[in-house]
Amino acid sequence: MSSLLQQAFDPESFRREGHRLIDQLADYLAQNHSRSEEEVISWRPPDEEWQFWRDFLDQPGDRPDFFQTVLDHSMRVQHPHYMGHQVACPAPVAALAGLVSNLMNNGTGVYEMGMASNAMERIVVDTATRAYGWDDRAGGHLTSGGTLANLTALLTARRAKAPRDVWVEGTSEQLALLVSEEAHYCVDRAVRVMGWGSEGIIKVPSDERYRMRTELLESIYEKETRKGKRIIAVVGSACSTSTGSYDDLEAIAAFCRARDLWMHVDGAHGAAAIFSSNYKHLLNGIEQADSVVMDFHKMLLTPALATGLFFRENGHSFNTFSPEAAYLFQKAGKEDWYNSAKRTFECTKLMMSLKVFSLLQAYGVGLWDEYVTQCYDLGRTFAHLIRQRPDWELAVEPQCNIVCFRYLGKSGEDLNALNARLRKALVEDGRFYIVQTVLRGKTWLRVTLVHPGTREEDLERLLDVLVEKN
Ligand SMILES: Cc1ncc(COP(=O)(O)O)c(C=O)c1O
Repeated sequence: MSSLLQQAFDPESFRREGHRLIDQLADYLAQNHSRSEEEVISWRPPDEEWQFWRDFLDQPGDRPDFFQTVLDHSMRVQHPHYMGHQVACPAPVAALAGLVSNLMNNGTGVYEMGMASNAMERIVVDTATRAYGWDDRAGGHLTSGGTLANLTALLTARRAKAPRDVWVEGTSEQLALLVSEEAHYCVDRAVRVMGWGSEGIIKVPSDERYRMRTELLESIYEKETRKGKRIIAVVGSACSTSTGSYDDLEAIAAFCRARDLWMHVDGAHGAAAIFSSNYKHLLNGIEQADSVVMDFHKMLLTPALATGLFFRENGHSFNTFSPEAAYLFQKAGKEDWYNSAKRTFECTKLMMSLKVFSLLQAYGVGLWDEYVTQCYDLGRTFAHLIRQRPDWELAVEPQCNIVCFRYLGKSGEDLNALNARLRKALVEDGRFYIVQTVLRGKTWLRVTLVHPGTREEDLERLLDVLVEKN
């Protein structure tokens, strides 16, 4: 080995740097949790940041500490004032599992390349499918994100419900699905990837709480079928992205049964409620779904990427893709659960089960019950605070930990511009991180409450700081 290679693989320097890094990260956690570090983001414009890292690399001699600089230049998701996009606040043990899996670099698509991770994946899958109330015919796999999982589910739906095997024969028939207008854009993208075009995605209007108007399903189905479309599936959102609204899954299930359609639930964010004794009722009807997507890396304390794609009848998932790569699966029987590459898009697949399993072995599902319940409760608390302040408005009563709200300012102001300006000022200020969304033409501020240490006082303070920025 050359000396650079020797240095790169030297176990003793790994030990030294690793010990120091863990101390650094533990300090970082403690600092964030105690709020002694005020800023959740130290905002710098993109070109400035790019220049910073170019200079960093070009710097001769003693550079600032690399990992500390990364921490200082990045979003602090591990801060109680992080309330932005829907990403998990990872539990530290799951981050340690990430370190282990990165060093081992076992794949999980093929059993031989990751015996432990494949076995763990099956246990993780069983934990979820049991929670949905499914029996041993159920199964599934883990995959790289909700977007890919939704596409995979819809490919399976097409295989099960389209009149021909489109994978092999192609089709000129206009296939389509029904989905709420509030669904995540990845459903739209999946439809287009499958070649169904704009006509393939039929958007069902939502009600005043942004839930699919399921009473319209029948008439829309009739109308679109008369136009010559072949509708094969309905996608329920549990919950929607912008407002966290749960579609009525029981109504969707009844409709799918009556019309022999595939029922898919995009539960990337909200299917995690199945683990909460207090909130699992939001998912009533999920037990009748054909497939469900749930991101462990959103509401289940797991670092990205770790998404579950689950099937009530797992046999369907073995038909999604033809097993083209025969060299990978030489002696595989049809239902070899341990070679998930047959059923997933990925060939090389991260050892994502390890991160989820690390939580199960350390804390059990009780951790998820406590966490989801606390976050959803906090959504209600925040709504209550907003209702008490006359100069603030709530977009909709929250069903989970996503809350949309806005400042009303002085009368006559352009509220869309005002709220967009407040958010920009808040990002530049750095003491809180929230996002914004547009609902029916109005701009709203939006929080997703994911940090286990966020308290009512933090939410009061958020509103005060926003007013300060006006
Ligand atoms: C309802 C819903 N589905 C799918 C996705 C996409 O998931 P991912 O970011 O894991 O690809 C999101 C992301 O916010 C979502 O909210």
